[in-house]
Amino acid sequence: MIALNRVHRMDAFEGLAQLSDESVDLVVTDPPYGIASSKRTTIRKGQVMSTKEAWGSWDTFAHPFDYDVMILRLISECYRVLKPGGSLYMFLARENCGFFIRHAVSRGFTYRNELALIKTTPLPSLHKKNWRSAFELCMYVVKGAMPTVFNFVSQRECVNTYPHASCVRLTNHPTEKPFEMIKRIVRVSSNPGDLVLDPFMGSGTTAAACVETGRRFVGFDTNAEYVRMAERRIADAGREAA
Ligand SMILES: C[S@@+](CC[C@H](N)C(=O)[O-])C[C@H]1O[C@@H](n2cnc3c(N)ncnc32)[C@H](O)[C@@H]1O
Repeated sequence: MIALNRVHRMDAFEGLAQLSDESVDLVVTDPPYGIASSKRTTIRKGQVMSTKEAWGSWDTFAHPFDYDVMILRLISECYRVLKPGGSLYMFLARENCGFFIRHAVSRGFTYRNELALIKTTPLPSLHKKNWRSAFELCMYVVKGAMPTVFNFVSQRECVNTYPHASCVRLTNHPTEKPFEMIKRIVRVSSNPGDLVLDPFMGSGTTAAACVETGRRFVGFDTNAEYVRMAERRIADAGREAA
């Protein structure tokens, strides 16, 4: 079996292939959204630029169908490696959520809920031709009928919205997710000592959340710079947890 408590510089599907059936307690992941384009603009580090430039080539797929195939493969692999009753949380572009739920349910997952990451400081609209985008969604499904673990920590924390100011960032990763939101998911849907998987680890948010909460983890990312970021965060979280 692949070494645990590490982020491997590796393609997600090569890494997943090395994990045994029913060996993982929880999957928390934020794969590419497949929406970067040279025509869609955003603001990064105060500069207006295309989402393709801002996010890097890893979010670009030659054809939308290639993205769909990747998500179908990911659903299938997550189902295989999860233990019965294990939970899967996946961030997706809003336009892909229906596709994800339909296929996750047909693979054997049960739809449970979705968590909304509310951006309290949304980007201004540059062209003023559409609504400003102020939330992202994370789908929550479970392998089988009911989750084995759901630690209802408090009414306040177990609500399906998470407000966050996008300017609060811990790394230079262009799509870093809020650390406290991921930590909350890990605490609610796993127990100390459980194994948590993130096949698209980015800056290591899921890994750092696992170190702080006493979970084991394994993850992958193809980008060497992001793997180094993740390694730094894992070391820092380990020092804080000690
Ligand atoms: C949306 S970002 C994840 C960000 C992460 N949640 C965080 O908080 O930093 C997706 C990541 O997937 C990585 N990636 C893209 N294609 C991949 C692949 N085939 N295998 C592994 N990693 C991949 C990218 O390098 C990127 O860091």
